[in-house]
Amino acid sequence: MADSSHLFQPLTIRGLELPNRIVVAPMCQYSAVNGVAQEWHTQHYGSLAASGPGLVVIEATAVTPEGRISLGDLGLYSDAAVAAFTHLVTTLKAIGKSRVAVQIGHAGRKGSSQRPWQGGACLRPAEGAWETISASAVPFAAGWPTPHEIGPYDIDRLRHAFAEAAEKADSAGIDVVELHSAHGYLLHQFLSPLSNLRTDVYGGSLDNRMRFPLAVIRSVRRALPNDKPLGIRISATDWVKGGFTPDEAIIYLNACKAEGVDYVCVSSGGLLADAKIPALPGYQVDLAARVRQETGMLTRAVGLITGPEQAEAVVASGQADMVALGRAFLDDPRWAWRAAVALGAPVPYPPQYERAQAKLWPGGKTPRATVAAE
Ligand SMILES: Cc1cc2nc3c(=O)[nH]c(=O)nc-3n(C[C@H](O)[C@H](O)[C@H](O)COP(=O)(O)O)c2cc1C
Repeated sequence: MADSSHLFQPLTIRGLELPNRIVVAPMCQYSAVNGVAQEWHTQHYGSLAASGPGLVVIEATAVTPEGRISLGDLGLYSDAAVAAFTHLVTTLKAIGKSRVAVQIGHAGRKGSSQRPWQGGACLRPAEGAWETISASAVPFAAGWPTPHEIGPYDIDRLRHAFAEAAEKADSAGIDVVELHSAHGYLLHQFLSPLSNLRTDVYGGSLDNRMRFPLAVIRSVRRALPNDKPLGIRISATDWVKGGFTPDEAIIYLNACKAEGVDYVCVSSGGLLADAKIPALPGYQVDLAARVRQETGMLTRAVGLITGPEQAEAVVASGQADMVALGRAFLDDPRWAWRAAVALGAPVPYPPQYERAQAKLWPGGKTPRATVAAE
């Protein structure tokens, strides 16, 4: 039966085998203190790691303090943050067979903001606001502060900060490093002509707009052992006229691939608050399929993929090699168990929970899998 499900086939990325193609998408928990992981992170990621996805991606983790989105972001920039992160990764790897990735990033002009449940606006000085930086001195949205344009010193500093964070994550035992080059954060701010108005070698042509992100990628790749997978998340379109386009994304990703990036997660949007995003089921899958076709990279699809059959179809049809789910995992951390039941694959229970299987417990025959799939 296992062979009949494409979603539950293993996947090798560089020197690493994922037990299946189900990925927990990176999701900020806004619950760190000074970049340091807390008990919340252990239970949140622990529960996911016990539930059978092939890969759990730890949320956007800042490479410098000013690179945080909010005061609750994880970081990899201080000894205390690295120690807590190491403890978290060690714990997750002891729990189950899921592999563990971390998304490293810098928020740029979208930093210094409130947690979503506090409103998500830019922080006021009394709330601990800090000065933000970006490709150009262009605010994220009306009412947001104008970021400082990054100078040559910052370019170098940030390249090192990304590399150092990757090195720290590797030393902590992380299986995969994923670069955040999506959703309007710093690397994306360089890529998009709407946020990058520079007239130096980092702005203007696509070659110039890619120069800083590619320099970061080169430094990060060099900081990692040869067998450690490096992925990237991109916004393949800004969904705004005059913005970053799928054609540009393909050129960027081919350059990323040449620099040793092993896979891409294809997302979209995030650069401008008022972009019109057609958020329908699987709305980014076609973008992923095009990227896979035109770059030959291992590709992950994401975005409103919720049902097991839907996820299975994305992989079986060759639109993507992996599928990431975000909110479906918040709703049901055991999503992979339900998917295995629905698709007839062996259910990836940890041995401690095996007695909850349908063949050992009549209650397991309740139609939970059907409910989850609807
Ligand atoms: C609570 C929450 C936090 C998120 N944080 C991140 C993040 O840290 N990095 C990122 O690239 N995307 C982040 N996202 C976007 C998700 O990774 C995912 O792309 C998005 O939710 C669409 O997938 P879904 O429809 O399966 O939820 C977040 C989404 C949610 C709901």
